[in-house]
Amino acid sequence: MKLFLDTANLQEIKEAASWGILDGVTTNPTLCARENMPFETLIKEICQVVSGPVSVECISTRAEDIVAEARKLNSLAPNLAIKIPVTLEGLKATRILSSEGIRVNMTLVFSPSQALLAAKAGAAFVSPFIGRLDDISHHGMELVEQIVTIYENYNFETEIIVASVRHPGHVVEAALIGAHIATVPFSVMEKLVKHPLTDLGIEKFLQDWKKVAAK
Ligand code: E4P
Repeated sequence: MKLFLDTANLQEIKEAASWGILDGVTTNPTLCARENMPFETLIKEICQVVSGPVSVECISTRAEDIVAEARKLNSLAPNLAIKIPVTLEGLKATRILSSEGIRVNMTLVFSPSQALLAAKAGAAFVSPFIGRLDDISHHGMELVEQIVTIYENYNFETEIIVASVRHPGHVVEAALIGAHIATVPFSVMEKLVKHPLTDLGIEKFLQDWKKVAAK
């Protein structure tokens, strides 16, 4: 399973990259707005830190505008994926861009039918937003199960990015279901390694080692 960081913060990306487990990055307009850097400079720097796919979102809404914007964004770095919301105009644009070899990440996916159409349009990635479904009392992970089944039934190559992840349990569930990727906030990425018994165990070993060293 691949792990992406869901942030546009360079410090967080550099730190997670240093852990040796970072496979890519996803950004969105909200995450980019939090950073105090010109957009294109920010994206180019992120793409230098991470060799895996870096998703950047189009803000155009008409297919021809999305295509033009995506081509421009894609020229910024060799490892970009272009995020496009799953609308009819987005699907049209995705078909054109994917035939040009531009990787599209269809985003804001909340239903299995949207994910089916994204795959049919040639999207490289599809991003179901799990936390936002949980927030309105749906079971977000059911959507991931449905997409995995649909993609397996028809051998679609589109990779599933479990997005809008709120806690480590979401990552574990996504891995058990067999999603290809989870994209997680930095705070969740840190929590994935934490366990109180690990911390207690280290403390005890270090205390006991002092007795060994004193001999
Ligand atoms: C994923 O690509 C999105 O950027 C992200 O996961 C959205 O998460 P949120 O629901 O916490 O904003």
